[in-house]
Amino acid sequence: MPQTVFITGTSTGIGAAAVRLFAQHGWQVAATMRNPADAKFDDLPNVRVYALDVTDAAAAPRAIQQAHADFGSLDVLINNAGYGLVGPFESATDAQIQQQFATNMFGVFAVTRAALPILRAQQSGVIINITSVGGRTGFPMNSLYHATKFGLDGFSESLWYELAPFGIRVKVVAPGGVATDFATRSLQMTIDPANDAEPYAAQVRSVLAAFNERGGAASSPELIAEVIFGAATDGTSQLRYIAGEDAKSLLGAKSQMSEADFMAMIQKSFGV
Ligand SMILES: NC(=O)c1ccc[n+]([C@@H]2O[C@H](COP(=O)([O-])OP(=O)(O)OC[C@H]3O[C@@H](n4cnc5c(N)ncnc54)[C@H](OP(=O)(O)O)[C@@H]3O)[C@@H](O)[C@H]2O)c1
Repeated sequence: MPQTVFITGTSTGIGAAAVRLFAQHGWQVAATMRNPADAKFDDLPNVRVYALDVTDAAAAPRAIQQAHADFGSLDVLINNAGYGLVGPFESATDAQIQQQFATNMFGVFAVTRAALPILRAQQSGVIINITSVGGRTGFPMNSLYHATKFGLDGFSESLWYELAPFGIRVKVVAPGGVATDFATRSLQMTIDPANDAEPYAAQVRSVLAAFNERGGAASSPELIAEVIFGAATDGTSQLRYIAGEDAKSLLGAKSQMSEADFMAMIQKSFGV
């Protein structure tokens, strides 16, 4: 019987690439997204598309149970849906903060909780949470995004212990920069960086320019999907997978430098 993977946020980017890769490997794929009309998987017969906005906690059990009933199995859950809220913390509205956490963290909690009764009953399964290099190190002007990704990283590490006795393996895939809609369509800002009346505008512009420069080093979503597929299928209990050469090199530097030196380097490279 083919294995089944359930993936959130599959309209574009890493999620869409993961759908294709698992399907090409013969997996049954529950591809979930906010708007199923966005799906581009008609050429993949073993993919079924389900509506799921991860901020709708009631929708998560419905989607998980429907996919489980349709495919007859659930082996891997990939919590991928997420976006970046960028800009000064001071300017973020309550609604922006709530939406960032509702999507990047509470959405993961809801979908994971919906899957757990199935995985626990079968005494097997892999849960892969897509965090970020920004779940292991901080960049300027990304405080709220980092709060969610550092949070997910810690959540996953603790859950690893809790679920191991039930045969469920928890994993984190932490990409560096990836060429997706993340930095364009999906990005939200807490200020308009063009507005010079904003006290943080110059700092934001400098950070965005540094990110743009780094864009050339971005990985493809297909490469990140390969890391995710490896994590799902390698049979190990490895917790963290750092995905992308930029992420490996940055976290490697962080592990070898003093905190003061590393932070001075980040300040310099972002011009803040
Ligand atoms: N690209 C990077 O540089 C990078 C680096 C590190 C980590 N990541 C992480 O990788 C994951 C995927 O991002 P990506 O790079 O593939 O960007 P992307 O192309 O913008 O994809 C993000 C996906 O998340 C979905 N999404 C957003 N809010 C949602 C919600 N409430 N419910 C369900 N789906 C929702 C989007 O759906 P819609 O089409 O409906 O908006 C889209 O399918 C994210 O968790 C992101 O934090 C990305």
